[in-house]
Amino acid sequence: MSPLNLQIDRVRDLLNGVHDPIPTLGGKSALLKTLIRIFDHCIYEHDLNIFGDLFLGGNRFHTHYKNYRIDRIGNELDRGLLSFYRAIQDPDQFDYLTRGIGAFSRPRLVTKGDFEDFKKWRRDSSTDAVDAAILTYVVSKYSRAANRQDFCHLKAGEGISISNLKRKLIPLTKIYHDVQFLNEGYDKPFKQLMRRKDALIYLDPPYLTSVDNYTEETEGYEDKYSTADHIIMLDRVVSESCKAKVIISNYFNELYFDYVRRGLLYCYFVGMVHVSSSGTGRKRPEFIFSNYPIPEYVLPHIPHDFRYYF
Ligand SMILES: C[S@@+](CC[C@H](N)C(=O)[O-])C[C@H]1O[C@@H](n2cnc3c(N)ncnc32)[C@H](O)[C@@H]1O
Repeated sequence: MSPLNLQIDRVRDLLNGVHDPIPTLGGKSALLKTLIRIFDHCIYEHDLNIFGDLFLGGNRFHTHYKNYRIDRIGNELDRGLLSFYRAIQDPDQFDYLTRGIGAFSRPRLVTKGDFEDFKKWRRDSSTDAVDAAILTYVVSKYSRAANRQDFCHLKAGEGISISNLKRKLIPLTKIYHDVQFLNEGYDKPFKQLMRRKDALIYLDPPYLTSVDNYTEETEGYEDKYSTADHIIMLDRVVSESCKAKVIISNYFNELYFDYVRRGLLYCYFVGMVHVSSSGTGRKRPEFIFSNYPIPEYVLPHIPHDFRYYF
């Protein structure tokens, strides 16, 4: 994105008063508008009542998309991350959360050794949930490409501005008030929602990618999501008992496209995204796979270079 566009985006965010809650790997920022248009169309066209984002990650959709006619569910396996969203929702936890992050906000206070301890403690089930949320935010802020794994001296050197953090999180206390946050594997809420004709389920699992007909998992996620996990998920989506509308985000890959070839899923180009771990500004095309047809007028144009995918 050009510096001017970046500036315009920041101004727009400030005007809306809504910022992403936490930096995360695999964020969907560049595709938000397109995906929201697709969700909105699906909800109105099919008269739906409930929307579940079952791999929340950075929780972009419940942050920027509010459709007043639907109930909202957000699910994430990572306990620290989910506890962070719950703590924003709960006025009793909110103060403790921001004060806790404040304790680690001074530039250069957190060392690589501390960071490695925080990584372990935030995932330890004996750590209190709000403490895990605090550590998760600190580890996200001080890691390279927000991957919560590799310490970044530069970011730890900058510290965290607590007044900016509060300005960013306070609007979210209201925005999240009706979201039911769950800390499960996606399959638990999926099995409930899939039977409902009035549900839209959005699935954004750690991606698969195909190189020279060889499909592999993308790296960087602490909770591994194997090719076998993808197959189980896809088979659930295309099964007879799945009555809900389902949209799955992924890169183009042979495993998913095989379901398209067999007429079980639809595939659509939704935009170009930065490969966050590349550090080079490299972009690649993103796709959605759905179990219902999406009309062309809600989709972006396919750039000429990517027409060969179809
Ligand atoms: C690609 S990211 C989601 C990105 C998110 N849509 C965003 O815009 O920030 C995938 C997320 O799924 C979570 N995850 C991994 N395995 C999971 C599982 N079995 N069930 C639920 N969430 C899982 C990871 O912790 C990660 O936060």
